[in-house]
Amino acid sequence: MTFPSVRPRRLRRTPALRRLVADVRVSPADLVLPVFVKEGISAAAPIVSMPGVVQHTRDSLRKAVAEAAEAGVGGVILFGIPAVKDARGSGADAADGIVQLALADVAAEVGDSLVVMSDLCLDEYTDHGHCGLLTETGEVDNDATLARYASIAVAQAKAGTQVVAPSGMMDGQVAAIRGALDGAGFAELPILSYSTKYASGFYGPFRDAAECAPQFGDRSAYQQDGARSADEGVREALLDVAEGADAVMVKPALAYLDVVRAVSQAVEVPVAAYQVSGEYAMVEAAAAQGWVDRERIILEQLVGIRRAGASMILTYWATEAAAWL
Ligand code: PBG
Repeated sequence: MTFPSVRPRRLRRTPALRRLVADVRVSPADLVLPVFVKEGISAAAPIVSMPGVVQHTRDSLRKAVAEAAEAGVGGVILFGIPAVKDARGSGADAADGIVQLALADVAAEVGDSLVVMSDLCLDEYTDHGHCGLLTETGEVDNDATLARYASIAVAQAKAGTQVVAPSGMMDGQVAAIRGALDGAGFAELPILSYSTKYASGFYGPFRDAAECAPQFGDRSAYQQDGARSADEGVREALLDVAEGADAVMVKPALAYLDVVRAVSQAVEVPVAAYQVSGEYAMVEAAAAQGWVDRERIILEQLVGIRRAGASMILTYWATEAAAWL
């Protein structure tokens, strides 16, 4: 019998050896915490399908963002939930809309200790729950929606956002937003585009959190189809970079790690991956049953997303995970 002389196991023998040769690392600074702020509530409200995540009041949001900054988290991204919704999502760009007020609060609270970003979309603000304006026949009107996004970008910029993150998957949205920001004197404000976003069942719990489930139909006519090869995800990312995106995003993360890989290799701007609400809920539900080692699989997924090539990770565990890293 002959024995192997090449033995990959040699470098795995001790924790110190494993640490020395590890080349995929996750730092708190790579993490971005998504947060929800709701207009007109007097106390933070738990989200049943996302145990541990809440809809914040303006006050509780300030505290949560200060905690994230304290933990070394790289950024937060704000989602607003207005008290009243209408067909055109008026709350999204109102100067006294909930997200604008919260952006100003948060920017004052944390200054420059982390990056304050804002999700830029209409679905949280429309009564029909779609990400854009509707035509008379109930389709999402791409080009009419661009004008709304442009206006929201400027409202968020005036309120003090430090990065706008358009998530609506309208064609041409980055160019429209870039033009509006430049025209309003915000040429320095970066755009993190949700360039590569799939129609996904993993957004289920988010729609409870942001109270934005579509009232009819679904988002498959504008979000991507997971049954197409990763090349389409790359194409979407390249288009957004060409329109002026400063960073791009792939979403969801876990079921699309091949796309994270492909996009990371294809673009020269930073790539974010969004570990979405359903990915969070699955782990929390299994952990609550005692079926998985919660901390271990959270870290395993974060490392997996970094290994696939993302430099930033949006995750609801950002503050907690930062303490383990
Ligand atoms: C759209 C938006 C969604 C999410 C982030 N931005 C919902 C959707 O596209 O249906 C989902 C995030 C998550 O599931 O955690 N504004």
